[in-house]
Amino acid sequence: MELESAMRERRSIRGFLDKAVSRETLEEIIALANRAPSSMNTQPWHLHVMTGDPLEAVRNGNAERMLAGIPPVREISAHAAYEGPHRERQIEIAVQLFEAMGIERHDQEMRQDWVMRGFRQFDAPVSIVVCLDKSLVNDTIGHFDLGALTYGLTLAAWSKGLGCVINGQGIMQSPVVRENAKIPDDQVIMTCVAMGWPDDTFKANSVVSRRRPVDNLTRFIGFND
Ligand SMILES: Cc1cc2nc3c(=O)[nH]c(=O)nc-3n(C[C@H](O)[C@H](O)[C@H](O)COP(=O)(O)O)c2cc1C
Repeated sequence: MELESAMRERRSIRGFLDKAVSRETLEEIIALANRAPSSMNTQPWHLHVMTGDPLEAVRNGNAERMLAGIPPVREISAHAAYEGPHRERQIEIAVQLFEAMGIERHDQEMRQDWVMRGFRQFDAPVSIVVCLDKSLVNDTIGHFDLGALTYGLTLAAWSKGLGCVINGQGIMQSPVVRENAKIPDDQVIMTCVAMGWPDDTFKANSVVSRRRPVDNLTRFIGFND
């Protein structure tokens, strides 16, 4: 697949077929993503690819803790609440997703069901836990490096017909992930990527999120025009 069409057409996939992804395919995707640039080629990333019973245990553990009202426990700091234009864009994509899924604004039950899907990793057959070397946790350049790797995972998966969503909800109860994935003590859990074969009948999978026009986010300096 052409890089341009992969970049243009990729979107988050949140509904998956009940079909396994082979280890060989996952290795190919990871080998591609592993070509991501990193500061001074430090490659400070580690991936833990989960499926089967361990992933089921994470789904259940996440859901139980969230339903019990246990506040999120992450290993990296997270924003409290988005404001201003960030909040507006957050609402815009939520509205798009809820409209596609037929979830009414005041339907608390369906909204809760949607949130729980996230904690269940959208029932994807695979979840890739993305970790950073703990020694670099306070180094924002390291976070940048992991962002590059993670986007690479999503593009590489897309190029093979797979879909995924970077899923912060999946690691909101990080102790559950740490225990079931047996994450080494010298690594910090940054995020996870839910991955599988897209279910084309799942309405939210066709949602195309909006982007600002280039001239809204860019200034050109020193050009003559
Ligand atoms: C760091 C990060 C965390 C995310 N966490 C979630 C999540 O918890 N749940 C979810 O449904 N989508 C999550 N997403 C996906 C974003 O909502 C999505 O990328 C954004 O709305 C743009 O849509 P697109 O990926 O379809 O272009 C996350 C994306 C990133 C980069």
